[in-house]
Amino acid sequence: MSSIRWAFNTRLWVNSAENWKMCLSSIQKEEVERLSEFVFQNSAVSSMIGRLLLRRWASKCLSLSWTDVQFGRTDKGRPYLVWPQCYKHSRDVDGNVSHQGDWVVFASCGDGAKIGVDVMKVEYAGGKSVPEFFRLMKRQFTAQEWSVIMSGHNDMTQLASFYRHWCLKEAVVKALGIGIGYDLQRISFQVASETLSEATVTRDTTVEIDGVPDNRWCFEECKLDDQHSAAVACIPASGKREDSSLVTLSAVSNLVQSSNLSSNEDGVGATQAADCSMGVDKCCGFELLSLDEILSDLGELSPVTDELVQLFMKKERAAWL
Ligand SMILES: CC(C)(COP(=O)(O)OP(=O)(O)OC[C@H]1O[C@@H](n2cnc3c(N)ncnc32)[C@H](O)[C@@H]1OP(=O)(O)O)[C@@H](O)C(=O)NCCC(=O)NCCS
Repeated sequence: MSSIRWAFNTRLWVNSAENWKMCLSSIQKEEVERLSEFVFQNSAVSSMIGRLLLRRWASKCLSLSWTDVQFGRTDKGRPYLVWPQCYKHSRDVDGNVSHQGDWVVFASCGDGAKIGVDVMKVEYAGGKSVPEFFRLMKRQFTAQEWSVIMSGHNDMTQLASFYRHWCLKEAVVKALGIGIGYDLQRISFQVASETLSEATVTRDTTVEIDGVPDNRWCFEECKLDDQHSAAVACIPASGKREDSSLVTLSAVSNLVQSSNLSSNEDGVGATQAADCSMGVDKCCGFELLSLDEILSDLGELSPVTDELVQLFMKKERAAWL
């Protein structure tokens, strides 16, 4: 099972009632309801594309039929695939979505590994000065991380480093499927490459958990464009290290895995997941998808009313999103 990295730039979204209707009718009912409650059109579109990428992955890469695929959410909101009875051995795959600014990204892996992905827009639009903003965020990063962030020569380079670290933390938190409330000071990154680029995938970042290097984690980082950076964090099922000081975080990971699985428990059988090759139009490891590619794969789950479509068409677009 190859790993997938997909990215969609939401500027490519063509806003029409027809497109929204097609998308709405291709996702699960509870997601139709969730998306209909969004205040702004653009945040609804980003979240919708995320749902479609999850389904596209299940249908295109795991050979599940679009209309049979069923996703659940953990109590922390992490989507997971509810495996149909007939697909038993393929359940050691994992996928995750992120959306922010102009991008929606999806990353998946196999072999029982857990994966988290995060995209961040590097910007500062707050009313406060950058030092004041950093002061408010002090508790999110370790002293070692702050020393790297503050070594930037100006506000913009410091912000780029800040968001890079943020992205990495979110990716780890998302791989573990935990949410707000986790003590982020327990996770400390060592970034070897000073900056990220659009041309290459940076893979030399490492992490310490509770002050102990944990080289079971693999990271991929890149810039999607000059304003957005992305990070993928992956923790394999069987790491090289066995260290009792890592037990707390691994225990969280195991707990999350077993809680996801317990929702899907239905025995053991044998179905091989299909291989899914990456396309050629890549941006730093992410295959760039067009709107047509996404729309052409949709399958109708249930028809939606014109009323719901009009509700979306009447929503405002948020200028700052
Ligand atoms: C849940 C959480 C991880 C989502 O992160 P986010 O940056 O707001 O959102 P992203 O765009 O990256 O990801 C959203 C998608 O991730 C998935 N997701 C939702 N909850 C998730 C969870 N607990 N774990 C993993 N993935 C989750 C969903 O697909 C979601 O899409 P949806 O909102 O359209 O359903 C985040 O809200 C959170 O709890 N963060 C806590 C960590 C923190 O404080 N970080 C600061 C870093 S310095």
